[in-house]
Amino acid sequence: MADRPKLLVLYATQTGNALDAAEQVGGEAGRRGCAVKLLSLDEYDASCLPREGAVVFVVSTTGQGDAPDSMKGFWRYLLQRNLGQHWLDGVHYAVFGLGDSGYQKFNFVAKKLDRRLSDLGATAIVERGLGDDQHPSGYEAALDPWMTSLWSMLIKINPNFFPHGPDFFIPYDKSISQPEIQITYHVIDKVDSEFSTKSDFKRVEMQIERARRMSPGKVSHDKNRPECFLKMVKNQPLTKGGYEKDVRHLEFEFVSSAIEYEVGDVLEVLPAQDPTAIDAFIQRCSLDPEAFITVSRVEVENNLLESHTTAAKVPIKLKSFVELTMDIASASPRRYFFEVMSIFATAQHEKERLQYFASPEGRDDLYQYNQKEWRTVLEVLEDFPSVHMPFEWLVQLVPPLKTRAFSISSSPSAHPNQVHLTVNVVSWTTPFKRKRSGLCSTWLSQLDPKQCTYIPVWFHKGSLPPPPPLLPLILIGPGTGCAPFRGFVEERAIQSTTGTATAPVMFFFGCWNEENDFLYRDFWTSHSQNGRVLSEAKGGGFYVAFSRDQKQKVYVQHKMQEHSQRVWNLLSEGAAVYVAGSSTKMPSDVLSTFEDIITKESGVSRESAVRWLRALEKGGSLSVRVCL
Ligand code: 2AM
Repeated sequence: MADRPKLLVLYATQTGNALDAAEQVGGEAGRRGCAVKLLSLDEYDASCLPREGAVVFVVSTTGQGDAPDSMKGFWRYLLQRNLGQHWLDGVHYAVFGLGDSGYQKFNFVAKKLDRRLSDLGATAIVERGLGDDQHPSGYEAALDPWMTSLWSMLIKINPNFFPHGPDFFIPYDKSISQPEIQITYHVIDKVDSEFSTKSDFKRVEMQIERARRMSPGKVSHDKNRPECFLKMVKNQPLTKGGYEKDVRHLEFEFVSSAIEYEVGDVLEVLPAQDPTAIDAFIQRCSLDPEAFITVSRVEVENNLLESHTTAAKVPIKLKSFVELTMDIASASPRRYFFEVMSIFATAQHEKERLQYFASPEGRDDLYQYNQKEWRTVLEVLEDFPSVHMPFEWLVQLVPPLKTRAFSISSSPSAHPNQVHLTVNVVSWTTPFKRKRSGLCSTWLSQLDPKQCTYIPVWFHKGSLPPPPPLLPLILIGPGTGCAPFRGFVEERAIQSTTGTATAPVMFFFGCWNEENDFLYRDFWTSHSQNGRVLSEAKGGGFYVAFSRDQKQKVYVQHKMQEHSQRVWNLLSEGAAVYVAGSSTKMPSDVLSTFEDIITKESGVSRESAVRWLRALEKGGSLSVRVCL
């Protein structure tokens, strides 16, 4: 068996779906007797690619056609000019993409990866598969048939991938191996002295760092320790009380050292979980919350992982580990979770149901039960009370607690030592009328500024670069999309009061009703008064579309049409265009409105208008951000 080929499965995931799909590919291949190695793209050394026999890529597309963070380094490597068109001669590959056809750049990442691999000389085993979130059964509708053709083509390329023949298949309940996680329990007889002498937020910081270092959920190394802590100083509703939307203006101050940020930057927040859910989970899984543990990976093949985990050997209380790293309320556990649960079910009817959910035949029913209903890990465990899963498996399979990103809505020049966010408190009902709510936004909205809660955060650059004062701006930000633009306007206002010359700003805002969700009404109107940043007298403007105050929908793009000549004037003066919002279709509708305006006002053809916008995008003067 020495030269038995191994199938390499590489994935790039943002929310965990591509990992789930990659595990299904790996699991199915393994059951057919194929040797498999599964790695995240950021664990893989791209320079080894020419030596691989067959590689399957499972990659998701996020937002407006962006690759997951874990793919960025790999993609940069692949784009190097010197690789040449024969670099991957002899390498066989297959690409499966996860995307959402509601977005204009559907599965953009999978498509460009497929093209690039082929340009570098690699040979496709099968045509790329494109999973679609809009499909009633999600991406899996495309995954199963795609895998079937993958196996039949792979066996033709090299039968040694399947040494037991084409019909060999290990049944589902026999194919689970050992968990990859190892838990060591420690007897601690004295309190860690370093820990007890620290100030309050330093202790929180150490706990977070210890827990995140041990977590199998991969966070980049510098994300183990919070960049700083904030405390809330204001929590103000921006929508009318009792209305079906709840948007908050939240102000924070730095507790530890202040971080320098710029307008348009993004704040990542590590949310705290609901203490009742944590207690319920610990009790359901018969765990000892007070036990001291260390967590590590077993059978690590890859050095990168080794170094990621071996440094982390300071024991931590089990309850803190669960709280800080395991997302108990996360919705829709992976299919593999159900498969592993089936092994540990002792009641026959539960075992059968779980096996059915884990099988290709149960795909649609699992989708209805799990994804459609946003079933949480805890709820699933409670629905199958005979399952007693070892903690190792839970640590491996419960999704890691992730930070949530928000656009910063303040300018640091206007508010030194503060950061503001504009947060939509997310809640919705499932098809069976169960109430669901977003973990981080709900937690933030319930914080009381009078109580000092330490909020662990990280700052990073967003896709909207801070504009120099003399760059004219056309901003389109309906709903909470207005957040970064509040910061831009504040910044421009400060610049003009301190004597810096500033270019005009045009801002298009949209919401449902004038009465209920006109976010920051006073702010925008006061800044559009004569001579101020958004005033028409300065060449800019502030325009608002209320979509539900009349029978016909009125959207930001209608307001743009109404003021098309002003829009064109600013565009032809070299304005940058920034679009931000949470609606899936809004950015593409807005961009096609720009095409209409350019065509109408300048008399050029549609193709020229498209080229014009593309050039703007390439030059970095057209950016789109999808926010919460
Ligand atoms: P609607 O929900 O009434 O359709 C902020 O979310 C605003 O964006 C809302 O007024 C919402 O309107 C609007 N919106 C929804 N889809 C849009 C689209 N395709 N283009 C522009 N605005 C849109």
